[in-house]
Amino acid sequence: MNANTATAAPRPPGALLAEGKTKRIYRLAGSADLVALVAKDDITAGDGAKHDIIPEKGALANRTTCNVFRALKAAGLPVAFERQDGPTSFIAPGCTMLPYEVVTRRQAHGSYLKRHPEIAKGHVFAKLLVEFYLKTKDKNWKGKPLLADDPLMEFVEGGAEIKLLNPAKPLLSQTPFLVLPASDVLCSNDEWKIFPEMRRIACEAFVVLEQAWQRQGGTLVDLKVEFGTDAKGRLLLADVIDNDSWRVLEDGVYIDKQVYRDGGALNDVVANYRRVADLTDRF
Ligand SMILES: Nc1ncnc2c1ncn2[C@@H]1O[C@H](COP(=O)(O)OP(=O)(O)O)[C@@H](O)[C@H]1O
Ligand SMILES: [Mg+2]
Repeated sequence: MNANTATAAPRPPGALLAEGKTKRIYRLAGSADLVALVAKDDITAGDGAKHDIIPEKGALANRTTCNVFRALKAAGLPVAFERQDGPTSFIAPGCTMLPYEVVTRRQAHGSYLKRHPEIAKGHVFAKLLVEFYLKTKDKNWKGKPLLADDPLMEFVEGGAEIKLLNPAKPLLSQTPFLVLPASDVLCSNDEWKIFPEMRRIACEAFVVLEQAWQRQGGTLVDLKVEFGTDAKGRLLLADVIDNDSWRVLEDGVYIDKQVYRDGGALNDVVANYRRVADLTDRF
């Protein structure tokens, strides 16, 4: 290997720390608290029920996340993002992830319509709606069986219990399928303090991205984010924000992962991912 290829070659990632459906996390050799997030070409929906490989997807998703995270950082938000380090990867502070999916909605789409069949698709929420879902796997939470994965959480901040609801059924005709003591979900009672913070950061991120999309002629209607804490215990917007994390309309048509969820042709799916990566280049 000559000197040129040595400088051009990506830094070899260290040990594999975790692997999910769409990415691998590596410890970064020579760094105590940085990780490399490497996007895979896998696309999944319905909690893995649908699965395909799209050769360009990892690079398009990574480009989108890097564009979004740079825009959020520039707006002053605390984001787990250092720099893009290759076509399919970026470097971030390694985080202890919180088990929540925090969803902000400007319009009623997707699972919201299942929970509120009385609301019309596209109904606009003048005040952003924020929902917390518990991230679960295999319909199980710490040994307790669940009726559904990623249930909607209902709680009073600081309260003694957290109610879990089926996210795909009308709220009016259901009672919580499980009520957990808050201590079964939170690491400590102190964790309640970060809920208002997560709410605030999720809303601010939504507004920054809503305006960025407006400038590109798109309409951001909802957004899912995840949080983590870094080595110093700081709350950060973490994981990724890519075309799987939101719904965006262009001329009334979804240009996000919805087309894949709805069974669209993979060629149309990848065209949307490419369009979104290109448009976010201008954020
Ligand atoms: N900055 C980070 N530090 C540490 N782990 C992270 C970070 N960002 C994301 N992760 C974790 O990476 C793992 C893989 O992500 P993903 O492929 O999306 O998995 P999943 O299928 O669980 O959604 C997840 O467990 C996620 O919580
Ligand atoms: Mg994920």
